Amino acid sequence: MSLTSAGTDFGGDADLRMAYSSSKAALNMLTVHYAKAFAKSDAYSHIKINSATPGYTATDMTGHRGTRTVAEGARVIVALATLPDDGPTGGFFNDDGTVPW
Ligand SMILES: NC(=O)c1ccc[n+]([C@@H]2O[C@H](COP(=O)([O-])OP(=O)(O)OC[C@H]3O[C@@H](n4cnc5c(N)ncnc54)[C@H](OP(=O)(O)O)[C@@H]3O)[C@@H](O)[C@H]2O)c1
Repeated sequence: MSLTSAGTDFGGDADLRMAYSSSKAALNMLTVHYAKAFAKSDAYSHIKINSATPGYTATDMTGHRGTRTVAEGARVIVALATLPDDGPTGGFFNDDGTVPW
């Protein structure tokens, strides 16, 4: 069971955010396709392509109601931007690891 089909993502009302959540699904799919394409390239196979969710973060987008600070939300992004050479590619992550979107 994934977060969205289980109804736990987006506060349990992903069905009310059709455009937003669909754009995120498209982004996850692009992540997989770019990762596979880059992995096949002699010139670009060293570049890792991943996506991340910061969690519900206090930014302009959430009207600063998010329960996580920007520093907490940025943690997974910094981790992915500084992966070692043998780090993952083509995944979707939060602070706890792979997200079953
Ligand atoms: N906050 C959350 O709880 C949360 C949770 C999950 C995922 N996310 C994702 O994290 C990402 C960043 O969200 P955020 O919470 O940091 O939002 P934010 O504070 O509202 O920041 C959005 C950023 O996007 C820029 N932007 C908006 N429209 C743009 C456009 N047409 N062209 C170029 N830049 C544009 C804004 O630039 P200006 O400042 O110049 O307008 C701003 O820097 C989003 O993709 C969001 O879906 C956020």
